[in-house]
Amino acid sequence: MKLLHVMLLCMTSVVAQATVTHKPFGKLPDGSTVELYTLKSASVEMQLISFGARVIAIDTKDRNGKMADIVLGYGSIDPYLNNTNSYFGTVPGRYANRIGKGKFKLEGKSYQITVNNNGNMLHGGTVGFDQKNWTSKEIPNGVEFSLVSPDGDQGFPGTLTAHVRYTLTGDTVRIEYSATTDKPTVVNLTNHSYFNLSGEGNPSILGNEVTLHADKYTPVDSTLIPTGEIASVHGTPFDFTKPMTIGSRIDAKNQQLEFGGGYDHNFVVDGAAGHLRPAAKVYDPASGRVLLVETDQPGVQFYSGNFLNGGVTGVGGKPYQKRSALCLETQHFPDSPNHANFPSTELKPGQTYHTVTTWTFSTAK
Ligand code: GLA
Repeated sequence: MKLLHVMLLCMTSVVAQATVTHKPFGKLPDGSTVELYTLKSASVEMQLISFGARVIAIDTKDRNGKMADIVLGYGSIDPYLNNTNSYFGTVPGRYANRIGKGKFKLEGKSYQITVNNNGNMLHGGTVGFDQKNWTSKEIPNGVEFSLVSPDGDQGFPGTLTAHVRYTLTGDTVRIEYSATTDKPTVVNLTNHSYFNLSGEGNPSILGNEVTLHADKYTPVDSTLIPTGEIASVHGTPFDFTKPMTIGSRIDAKNQQLEFGGGYDHNFVVDGAAGHLRPAAKVYDPASGRVLLVETDQPGVQFYSGNFLNGGVTGVGGKPYQKRSALCLETQHFPDSPNHANFPSTELKPGQTYHTVTTWTFSTAK
């Protein structure tokens, strides 16, 4: 009996393991090589590249067992170099999302970061972590990407050493971020994958049912900088505490939706940050695919792909239309360095920034 139990346990862990392979994906203009990693479990196959520490493909099964790639991406390096505005699959940094006017004060000193979005800093400034070729190495069930961002990079203080570890076991992708600094700085890392659970290139995600474990969200001004208010979602189109289709209220007359051109807001994840807990769930009735997002972060930016406009063509040869994918960027709140009432994003020498987010794929009827 005991032996059988041990054998079963061993078999389960073998099934859960992923194989990891890598090869060159392409070359950057400076001649350096972009590496491609493929992680494969019994049910999921995922591809990542070192340029931007980026997810470029995730193949999962639909309710009939048919595989499809459910994230937006390109099949070669050039479009990643030429179309940097969408941040497909990347790890934005050193500060994901926006900092108002690119300005903040830290320990009495003022800093000006490069601005790249309506006078604000978005996703780390003009040359963010998405445009860096990270070093990479294979780890059990996955890949680790590392980057050293020098003191003064885009205006941020302190040399920041960052690591992102992606691992795949069974149906779950685990993303683990860590960073250290040699001077006080701010840091906020996330992953910017765009999901279309019917398969990349399908025209709309408006029929997806979304649940957000969030009673509150952070309203924004017309340039998408939080006002500082932490508002209740109840009685508004931002209430996803019960499953709701994205399309049911996206065009409602609501100033916040007008500012975002749809959903482009940070939701305050229920429960204490620092512990992995459910943040979001997406169910695609067409394919039956379900994505569960869990995180230890205080917030999740729900972005309904409003800025996609059909102007780029993805790996499968189809244009990426407006609202044809959604992002669930688990993170600290946007513009935290300018809001004392938001959880702090400061990192000091001697401290280690460490956060975890998981994506679990399944299907439903
Ligand atoms: C984030 C932002 C959006 C948009 C995308 C990238 O989700 O909140 O406003 O800039 O990144 O296009």
